[in-house]
Amino acid sequence: MSETGIARRSSLHGQWSSRLAFVLAVTGSAVGLGNIWRFPYIAGENGGGAFVLVYLVCIVIVGLPIMMSEVLIGRRGRRNPVSTMTLLGKEESGTGSWGLVGALGLGSGFLILSFYSVIAGWAVAYVIESASNTFEGATAASVEQVFNSLASNPLRTGLWHTIFLAATAFVIARGVERGIERAVRVMMPALVVLLLVLLGYSAVEGNFAQGVRFLFEPRFEELTRDGMMEALGHAFFTLSVGMGAVMAYGAYLPSGTSIMKMSVAVVAADTAIALVAALIVFPIVFANGLAPDAGPGLVFQSLPLAFSQMPGGAIIATTLFVLLTFAAWTSAISLMEPATAWCIEKLGLTRALAATAVAGITWILGLLTVLSFSTLSGVTFLRGTFFDNIDFLSNSILLPFGGLAIVIFAGWIMARASTASELDPDAGTAYRVWRFTARYLTPLAVVAVLLRGVGLI
Ligand code: TRP
Repeated sequence: MSETGIARRSSLHGQWSSRLAFVLAVTGSAVGLGNIWRFPYIAGENGGGAFVLVYLVCIVIVGLPIMMSEVLIGRRGRRNPVSTMTLLGKEESGTGSWGLVGALGLGSGFLILSFYSVIAGWAVAYVIESASNTFEGATAASVEQVFNSLASNPLRTGLWHTIFLAATAFVIARGVERGIERAVRVMMPALVVLLLVLLGYSAVEGNFAQGVRFLFEPRFEELTRDGMMEALGHAFFTLSVGMGAVMAYGAYLPSGTSIMKMSVAVVAADTAIALVAALIVFPIVFANGLAPDAGPGLVFQSLPLAFSQMPGGAIIATTLFVLLTFAAWTSAISLMEPATAWCIEKLGLTRALAATAVAGITWILGLLTVLSFSTLSGVTFLRGTFFDNIDFLSNSILLPFGGLAIVIFAGWIMARASTASELDPDAGTAYRVWRFTARYLTPLAVVAVLLRGVGLI
């Protein structure tokens, strides 16, 4: 029994086999395209330094406390994010309307997964390109051409999108514990080793000094209002918080594991991998006269150039894109799990049917991104193409709003005794730092960036 007199619930979908399994699953969710594809390209588009600084501040005062909040809420509710928020809302404040936060999260999940799957499809296509030696003797012009001819071909990208999404639904259909654990345990260390090898290459062969300066020398005049919102949004995206993915995983977490320590470890690993990826990409970009603000194709153009110049490049390239595909896969699984769990609990579907339904809806939405880079690349409104709008809506608006609601719920609505019983029954210093941050700093930071984004401050 916890302090508030509620017997600990058990999950309806099984539990992680061990604490390590949970850490691996959350790390697998966090580390993905966000670190290796998205972070370098949006840092490049937003002028580097100042953007990176805002991103790092957001990771610490926004992302980390929200990750802890999501896990604790998930573990306490032990259901899909909608039901968990409804249930805890009733327990803590007498109103089940908090379920809306979970529902909003399911919506963001569909949107994010829809484009995520398309970009992951690019990574799969690059496995084939690398293995068939396409990048031998590559030049800046040829890598650009390879990328453009892929992205602008809706049939090719649509096919890989379909295959990637089907593979994701397959793991989801078999249940979370089995598939993910094994994939992450092997792939994640391999990915880190390979990234360190590439970092060595970049340090020796790239323009490392210029890369470091670009990333870490803050030039605030280059940071726009949108840039700040993107930095905040990316802190959510890269840590998988703000939509309930981590909440859904927390629901399967055995009681008695330290949520705080685990969150710190995951956040540190995720941030380190993003910084290493950027430190690989930019020295190559500058040494080869590529444009740092090339956009979504940045990684797909800079890395192949490097591979073409190193001995054994084709093998290294193939391995890297295989690992990137796996990293994206474990992330996509976490994007699909909340909606699937909801369909099982609320609609009474079997796991396989639920996964198929979620994948079907996502697949159709994903076609918008497929077409954004090809047939409909000329159609722009508001922020740009369909992809630009889906990306901005989900990452810079929905995730921050979802995260804000989650942290307000954990910091203000939940009783101190309830959060302490999940995070630290002794309510030690770390707990008090979390609670203060969750109540004041995190909401203030999110609101400030959003207000600045719409031009009010
Ligand atoms: N964090 C993943 C990445 O960096 C993407 C991701 C997985 C995600 N689950 C999420 C983003 C939930 C937002 C919400 O690639």
